[in-house]
Amino acid sequence: MQIKTEPQLLDLLTRPSEALVAFMATLQGPLVILGAGGKMGPTLCVRAKRAAEQASNPIPIIAVSRFSDKGQKAWLESKGVQTHSCDLMDRDSLRNFPDAEHVIYLVGMKFGTQSNPALTWAVNALIPDYMCERYPNARIVALSTGNVYTMTEVEGGGSVESDPLEPLGEYANACVARERVFEYKSQQLGTAIVSIRLNYAIDLRYGVLVDLAQKIIAGKPVDLTMGYFNCIWQGDANDMILRALPLATSPARALNVTGKETLSVRKTALALGRLMNKPVSFSGTESTIALLNNSAVAHDELGPPSVGIEEMLEWTARWIQDGNQLLNKPTHFETRDGKY
Ligand SMILES: NC(=O)c1ccc[n+]([C@@H]2O[C@H](COP(=O)([O-])OP(=O)(O)OC[C@H]3O[C@@H](n4cnc5c(N)ncnc54)[C@H](OP(=O)(O)O)[C@@H]3O)[C@@H](O)[C@H]2O)c1
Repeated sequence: MQIKTEPQLLDLLTRPSEALVAFMATLQGPLVILGAGGKMGPTLCVRAKRAAEQASNPIPIIAVSRFSDKGQKAWLESKGVQTHSCDLMDRDSLRNFPDAEHVIYLVGMKFGTQSNPALTWAVNALIPDYMCERYPNARIVALSTGNVYTMTEVEGGGSVESDPLEPLGEYANACVARERVFEYKSQQLGTAIVSIRLNYAIDLRYGVLVDLAQKIIAGKPVDLTMGYFNCIWQGDANDMILRALPLATSPARALNVTGKETLSVRKTALALGRLMNKPVSFSGTESTIALLNNSAVAHDELGPPSVGIEEMLEWTARWIQDGNQLLNKPTHFETRDGKY
């Protein structure tokens, strides 16, 4: 299969798994998705909507965000997702929120941390408190990131959920704060929460593979110092995030979500170069440590991802070669000093 157009990509990214349709058949009341206007939220909301429709359980799917990108709001509404424009830093606005027993929390701030660290800490650490106060009785799947871990030996297979959270840099530490505030509120209010430590969603319009393919097409060297990474097809990540709702507990728990393999940047770049018929040049050399995430527990509890790295490589190479739509939001996965 090749993915040649954005509608084709969006159809694939929002196609629910059978397991998700079966789960959505059991869900009662509205599903609220907070921070829905970013890179993952729109396709997550429409996936949930399609799953609810296929399960003949037409519960409201409600997307909440500022919707800085108005096009996302219009697209969600065209797909039958209800939207609610709101700045979640404004506590008063929360009173108007629809009640819900199930909440997906995608709010986050990463880029711009260097220029405004206070805002990053406020967004990542204050809004979880407001949301738990608004939804104390809900089940919450709260997005975190694999950046909460420190870098580990490549041979070790990646950080596991019980590892210490001692990362480098203000962004990653603000993400630790996001998790810890959720954990505290779960202790205090009994809210059932699971924090998803995600490493690199792959959507053909952004992601680590797009970053690499763009370098290769432009004839620029690929930096090897962050020599290894994990990634997962965004459709699989979103499917797992939705199906993680029953895994939420009080006290809160954490779950790593990524693909099966530790991937080498060098080998991945060479594979993309072959697929795009372009030479690949490199700078730097691989360190023995990298930011890596082991998601064996999630694969055990939610099942493995459906899309493999070979498909993601083929789809990305073709997408970039054809000059298709990009979000122009680099991941900066090669960052090793924690500064974003
Ligand atoms: N994508 C990945 O590969 C990846 C990897 C690891 C972790 N994650 C985590 O997963 C979550 C979702 O990822 P993403 O890539 O979709 O992130 P994203 O593109 O940054 O989206 C998060 C969205 O939250 C919304 N938001 C921020 N502040 C808000 C506020 N004050 N009020 C209302 N909405 C606000 C923003 O949308 P509006 O402008 O519409 O408000 C923003 O676009 C993030 O928390 C991120 O940390 C993602």
